[in-house]
Amino acid sequence: VFDRLEQLPDDPILGLNELISSDPRSEKLNLGVGVYVNDDGITPVMEAVRLAERRIHEEQVSKAYLSPRGRAEFINPLGERIFSNDLWIRRRDRIAGLQTAGCVAALRLGAEVLGASGIREIWVSEPTWPIHAPIFEAAGLKVRRYPYYKTGETGVLWDDMIAKLSGIGPSDAVLLHGCCHNPSGSDLSLEQWRMLSDHLKKRGSIPFIDVAYAGLGEALDNDLAGLRLLTELVDEAVVAVSCSKSFGLYRERTGALYFSGGSKRNVSAALSNALNLARTSYSMPPDHGGAVVAKILSDHELEALWRAELKRMCEKLNGCRAQLAELAEENGLNWGFIREQKGMFSLLPITPAQTKKLREEHAIYMPSNGRINIAGLSNAGCRHLIHSVVAITD
Ligand code: LMR
Repeated sequence: VFDRLEQLPDDPILGLNELISSDPRSEKLNLGVGVYVNDDGITPVMEAVRLAERRIHEEQVSKAYLSPRGRAEFINPLGERIFSNDLWIRRRDRIAGLQTAGCVAALRLGAEVLGASGIREIWVSEPTWPIHAPIFEAAGLKVRRYPYYKTGETGVLWDDMIAKLSGIGPSDAVLLHGCCHNPSGSDLSLEQWRMLSDHLKKRGSIPFIDVAYAGLGEALDNDLAGLRLLTELVDEAVVAVSCSKSFGLYRERTGALYFSGGSKRNVSAALSNALNLARTSYSMPPDHGGAVVAKILSDHELEALWRAELKRMCEKLNGCRAQLAELAEENGLNWGFIREQKGMFSLLPITPAQTKKLREEHAIYMPSNGRINIAGLSNAGCRHLIHSVVAITD
């Protein structure tokens, strides 16, 4: 049976980890997978998470099953932090969510529910995270692309984007990045979120928002302002949330999927479809990450500690951005855009062949589109990257 299968290529992002660990060169620089890295070069367990885990360890009395929906103590407070307390209370009956096995499961379930509701096409930004299209295609949706960002520039291609989306209708969904666009780091302005919301509403198309980097752009509330505005303005929306980066829970697969709609009946129907899909694929989400987030968000001190840690991570990213842009400019590279962008990623204006050269000749690892994980850059790393790019482009 298996001889009928074709060998598939390695994952374009996670596949890099294996290459890096087998590289013996001491100067190797990992700018691949999007994880936060501290000054000691490690991806730490956040202190708030560690304290929450300790309490869970002491208090947990059972490992009996959860429901496919996961923990209400996770879904509700997380929803309140994402949509804002005010919106969450006002829309109490019109936003429904479930805990998912990471954000990928949220994206997949959301896409399946959209497909079951009659959505045929989903529009994604060009560029976008390379796993978006395969997830949506696996759910049976046709993936279309709207222009969003041109490498080497600062802002987004707003006019081109809106022109491309001029023909969308009620069987189209539009994927948006809540903040810290992956891979470009360029986000819509609040005014653009407003105009886009009007456009989607007029055309009867539903937005699907992927929120994976909340708190790592400017600050939690600022980063979520566009999503909140859109949720107010459009009739219906689907929102996938990741706790991987904002809580540092990567491998614990902690995510959530929310449906915001015009009536209690409709969001309840959407939720029931997602629950059915969860039950028939992975049954229920893993508990640990959700239990940790629930613990943090139910305790003022733990939440304050988490917020302070998140703020420091954000400041570090913005510091790395400023430093990289400055060093690049000193070396004749026009990389000022990196300073203006947000979150973990920016795209370097280099070709796939040059990323290969950087890997082979300078032990610098990044996906072939030139995306770099800003958090992976120390002082020395910035210098190594810039001198290597200068060397391969001279
Ligand atoms: C990334 O883009 O590097 C992260 O979101 C990790 C992943 O799953 O690809």
